[in-house]
Amino acid sequence: MATVKINGKEITIDDGTLILDAAKTAGFDIPTMCFHARLSKLASCRVCLVEIVGQKKLQPSCVTPVMHGMEVLTESPVVKSARSSMIELLLANHPLDCPVCDKGGECELQDITFKFGPRQSPFGDKKRRFNEEDYILSPVIVQNANRCIQCKRCVRICAETVGVGVLGSIERGAKTGETSFVREYLDCDHCGNCIEVCPVGSLMSRSYRYKSRPWDLKGVDTVCVYCGTGCQLTVQARKDEVVRVISKPEEGINNETLCARGRYGYSFINSIDRLLVPMVRMGNTLEPTTWEDAVRAVRNGLSEAINKGKKIGGIASSRLSNEELYLFQKLMRGVLKTNNIDSGSRWDTDAVKTYAEIMELSKGGLSIYDALNTDTLLILGFGISDENPVTDYIIRRISGNKKMNIIMASPRGMKLDNSAVLSIRHNPGTEGVIIGGILKLIYDKNINSLKNLGGKDYLKDLSKEKVSDITKTAWQDIEAASGYIMASNTITVAVGSDVLRVPSRIEFLRMLIEALRILGKDVKLFPLFDRSNQRGALEMGVHPDILPGYNFIDGDGLGADGIIDAASRGEVGALYLAGEDILSDFPDGVFAREALRQTKFLVVQDIFMTESAKMANVVLPGVTFVEKDGTFTNQEGRVQRLRRLFEPHGDAKADWEIMSAIGESIDPSFNYRSASEIFDEIKKSLPLYSGIIFENLDGNGALVKGPVSSSQSSGKWAVSINLKRESADPEYPFTLITGNHLYHSGRLSLKADTLYEILHEAIVEMCGEDARKLGVSKGDKVKVKGKRHEAALTVRVNEGSMKGVVFIPENFTDVPVNMFFTKGEGYPKVKVIPLGRES
Ligand code: SF4
Ligand code: SF4
Ligand code: SF4
Ligand code: FES
Repeated sequence: MATVKINGKEITIDDGTLILDAAKTAGFDIPTMCFHARLSKLASCRVCLVEIVGQKKLQPSCVTPVMHGMEVLTESPVVKSARSSMIELLLANHPLDCPVCDKGGECELQDITFKFGPRQSPFGDKKRRFNEEDYILSPVIVQNANRCIQCKRCVRICAETVGVGVLGSIERGAKTGETSFVREYLDCDHCGNCIEVCPVGSLMSRSYRYKSRPWDLKGVDTVCVYCGTGCQLTVQARKDEVVRVISKPEEGINNETLCARGRYGYSFINSIDRLLVPMVRMGNTLEPTTWEDAVRAVRNGLSEAINKGKKIGGIASSRLSNEELYLFQKLMRGVLKTNNIDSGSRWDTDAVKTYAEIMELSKGGLSIYDALNTDTLLILGFGISDENPVTDYIIRRISGNKKMNIIMASPRGMKLDNSAVLSIRHNPGTEGVIIGGILKLIYDKNINSLKNLGGKDYLKDLSKEKVSDITKTAWQDIEAASGYIMASNTITVAVGSDVLRVPSRIEFLRMLIEALRILGKDVKLFPLFDRSNQRGALEMGVHPDILPGYNFIDGDGLGADGIIDAASRGEVGALYLAGEDILSDFPDGVFAREALRQTKFLVVQDIFMTESAKMANVVLPGVTFVEKDGTFTNQEGRVQRLRRLFEPHGDAKADWEIMSAIGESIDPSFNYRSASEIFDEIKKSLPLYSGIIFENLDGNGALVKGPVSSSQSSGKWAVSINLKRESADPEYPFTLITGNHLYHSGRLSLKADTLYEILHEAIVEMCGEDARKLGVSKGDKVKVKGKRHEAALTVRVNEGSMKGVVFIPENFTDVPVNMFFTKGEGYPKVKVIPLGRES
């Protein structure tokens, strides 16, 4: 510890603390411009100079650590004069066009000039000018280089956090300007983080420019609705039209960063395509009606199914709030007396249960920062850089500051590969066998210590040849992974939801965790989800075999696949889809359509007229995340607040209100008046949530807390590992995998103008070797042809991807990837034909 005096005030603080932070602790603010807490230190602007008693020269407080006995002055005449001179220099070339600058009112240069700057300037020379007019640097950035103060925050965040590094300087000295290296239209991640950190109006948001002044905005702090990272953001509206999303440095695990989806994916809220009134089917058309009539129609449809002894099913979106998901399962289980429920229809129901057990979700939450406090991080089953971009940023930033072995296992090349010590490429769906190979090596070297390892007999069949044959991964990579793991004391295993897309093969992971713990390693498990409230959906019990709070049962309920199966046989009398579009999501679109045709009564609750809604008997308009209160639980297990910014559009209602009205129409005691009332009931039913107070949830949320030790097993732990290699089909040599694109998530983001502009058509991604063999390159058109579906697509090349694998994003309505799938057949096999060369 160091005891220092700042402006005469004595404080004791950790050795190595920066003077800037020490002064803050002592209650003194020092202005900064180039400094950014989460970026490398540049110390170029000199605005933060302070006087250290006994030293001749002033020192930049943003890079100078305190030393015991140091005496610092932050407000002495010499400091004030130097600070004012540095600001004067920043202003020397600055245009001072504040009245027409988009940053006016929230500009850091304006603020420090007002507070500390000179009142007049001696500079009379012509100011440096890079451009006469603002220019469009990318689909999201408008630049005015004249206003740049060369703080390089934009350059640093793009390279160090986002991992893209497309910004840099041109010219030198007084002429230095920040731009793309060659001042070309940027092809980047379009995350807008460079705009967020730009302290002046040099980098501006194209979608927000000239829409409003900051003081005319009303805003609300809430959570991103897209992926499981759960970024905190502030949605701002002018006259009930959402005009921008920003993020705050001190709020949330994302600390000011967002991805393109979080920052620009909001305009679906303002969309004119929103459903605004309830509708009931009259013959071939859906006609607007009142809520009273719509709820009555739903009650009658459900009652008829019950009276006729038909099955009822419910599938809810994992983008609904915890309160809505809890109410949904209570309505299904308690009022309609069925366990036929699921959250989403893309995944294998049994695989979800196995995953929840193996990943020990019932033990409570784990902060991502604790998860990354590890020697080795193994990431598998997830296209992390595309699916959860800010999780990727956090990992990159943390791994840049400390030694951590990152092992990436995925069929696709990922941006995060650049931070990894090892990138394992493997056949789609073989994650479990990769784990099995690693486990086998560890077991063979520690047979005595692991003699009691459960399921060890399954390792007998697992030869190195077999692992390589099934996974198509070089054995050296498996050896290297096991080497890194065995050399580590702490290992974090992050497993993503790709392993849920086909019947699970990750049982070896359970054995690996057990083996490593027997060997004295500290193993942490970190789930990765692509939907914002997927973890919440599991905790609320929206699964046939998981009751709220992870009470695992072997019940008779059906998951989405079972419900759709039963519907196809005409056994389902009523199906309730809340925010879920199974026609677009279920991995066999043809089968799902036929199943809905056979369903007697279909209720769809959504914010847009989805493909499934078009077939419904009753359509109920829900609201977006800024029109309701509630909570989400992110992949860490962090409960965060959704807050209402304005009243629902039209006659739409919060999804929990709709569920409450439907429940009450059947059972009058089923009525709820607010999200917080439902949350209080959740707290009573789920010990995980018992310590959380809805009203007190701030920007950091609260991690759910599990029991100190928790029994996971449902008694169905038999290891059922399929070690069969998929047979090759020479006619269809590629395996098709699907997932979210960096700029899109589900179908919601297609309604966001900026994201649509960035990417408005589906693409097919393949590795460089395959592209070269086919004689195609980026931008070429090809036909991807499966056994039952085909699509014309534009080629993107991902040099780091697995040979023989193609990826198509699942976000585009005109390329419904689920039509390539055949129920029960796993990943589809396809061929790729360059257009114009069809045979
Ligand atoms: S938008 Fe994001 S990726 Fe593009 S230049 Fe800015 S920080 Fe870099
Ligand atoms: S563009 Fe903005 S963030 Fe980048 S160097 Fe210039 S002033 Fe700094
Ligand atoms: S990483 Fe996920 S939660 Fe964060 S802004 Fe992007 S989509 Fe939203
Ligand atoms: S903020 Fe310290 S030198 Fe710029």
